[in-house]
Amino acid sequence: MEKTIDENIQGTALQLENTSKNKRKLYIESYGCQMNFSDSEIVASILANEGFNTTQELNEADLVLVNTCSIREKAEQTVRKRLEKFNAVKKVNPNMKVGVLGCMAERLKSKFLEEEKIVDMVVGPDAYKDLPNLIQEIDQGRDAVNVILSKDETYGDVAPVRLNSNGVTAFVSITRGCDNMCTFCVVPFTRGRERSRNPHSIIAEVNDLWDRGFKEITLLGQNVDSYLWYGGGLKKDFDKASEIQKATAVNFSKLLELTALAQPKMRIRFSTSNPQDMTLDVIETMAKFHNICNYIHLPIQSGSNRILKAMNRLHTREEYFELIDNIKKIIPDCAISQDIIAGFPTETEEDHQDTLSLMEHVKYEYGFMFAYSERPGTPAAKKLPDDVPETVKKRRLQEIIAVQRKHAAYRTGQHVGKIEEVLIEGASKKSKDEWMGRNSQNIVVVFPKENYTVGDFVNVKVNDCTSGTLIGEAVGYSNNN
Ligand code: SAH
Ligand code: F3S
Repeated sequence: MEKTIDENIQGTALQLENTSKNKRKLYIESYGCQMNFSDSEIVASILANEGFNTTQELNEADLVLVNTCSIREKAEQTVRKRLEKFNAVKKVNPNMKVGVLGCMAERLKSKFLEEEKIVDMVVGPDAYKDLPNLIQEIDQGRDAVNVILSKDETYGDVAPVRLNSNGVTAFVSITRGCDNMCTFCVVPFTRGRERSRNPHSIIAEVNDLWDRGFKEITLLGQNVDSYLWYGGGLKKDFDKASEIQKATAVNFSKLLELTALAQPKMRIRFSTSNPQDMTLDVIETMAKFHNICNYIHLPIQSGSNRILKAMNRLHTREEYFELIDNIKKIIPDCAISQDIIAGFPTETEEDHQDTLSLMEHVKYEYGFMFAYSERPGTPAAKKLPDDVPETVKKRRLQEIIAVQRKHAAYRTGQHVGKIEEVLIEGASKKSKDEWMGRNSQNIVVVFPKENYTVGDFVNVKVNDCTSGTLIGEAVGYSNNN
């Protein structure tokens, strides 16, 4: 998923439009992938019906929820540190209750209650509809745990409350869970089996967002290209579906098309694409609709065929190149970003060089790069020794980051001199006289405000750039307004 600042980890206090009849105060913080931020919007919606308004003041909270990430050890440590802070606040505000949501809740289950005395409630990603009951439990002084994973929960019937929203861009979740079983990854264990959300509820959410002034959506899933709706049920049970179900099934390219047609002016992005599941259909649909952005987050993890195999990534380096070549043939200006892991077990210098040479071939616009972090219970942790020394992992990671910086600067520079359509998201961080928006390729563009406003689609002439930002001036509204 396109994510995240600070090695995929970002904590934000979230603000809900407050409902006057609600009396209790909820403080909610999210860490990790975009799906967690999206899930927090579902949780806020469920709790708004239970009498909770959100607050950004930790000190005045009746209930503190932390939506956690388990993807790397560092992500878990960040959450543990936050719990220490909550502990200090609880000394002043002893009635405050603390709940842990998300992947760490699912991974550690009731062990969390033993390990962290501050925690009153542990709720896994598929159990948020049980929150009203769980809160009753903790109100009566008992600890509460629900970490049951589901085969069909997609929260398709919950209207998310948009938290911390810029009013222009929003996430729409389309699948939950993941069946891919990459050997390093904890997600299949914490988020369960892959299931797709009913396309009607997806389109209804997109229509509603448009009616409320939103101009860009990101369709979210661990592996969006594997989206498949045939009336409900797990992806892995599709074989057992009836002939009618099979004939009327909606796959990801169809869903993209339905979304693009439902709201032809809404910008559409999606994340994440797993190379093994991305079909030509999807690329062709992207090319067909102007409102589907020319940007694909396409994690590779490693450039070495031997390591890809050990990771259970079900494609080779050569197949990945073929996919990239097809993307560039069909959408020449398509931006591509990566996830790469440095120092997977048994990785040699030669494997590492393969990763660097793959990067040279693709020249990614953007990247999310990590040192391998062994996750308990994953196939890699069970079968492979974490044998690349920390210093070597760090050095390889730095080399990968340096190459990525060079390529990002090169790709950004390619836009200078062009006129590009930009959707204004808000004021630039550096200057209150400038707007910040993104072009189709997801690159940040800043330009003087003039008379334009947030939510406008503007044509911007790009005059200059830094390594990651385009600098320009508006030359008029684009015809997408
Ligand atoms: N399909 C998911 C992947 C989630 S994990 C998505 O939507 O993004 C995001 C990235 O974290 C992965 O692509 C991988 O590069 C990295 N990652 C996952 N497990 C890891 C581990 N054990 N150590 C280091 N990085 C990891
Ligand atoms: Fe993880 Fe691989 Fe799925 S990285 S989320 S198991 S596609």
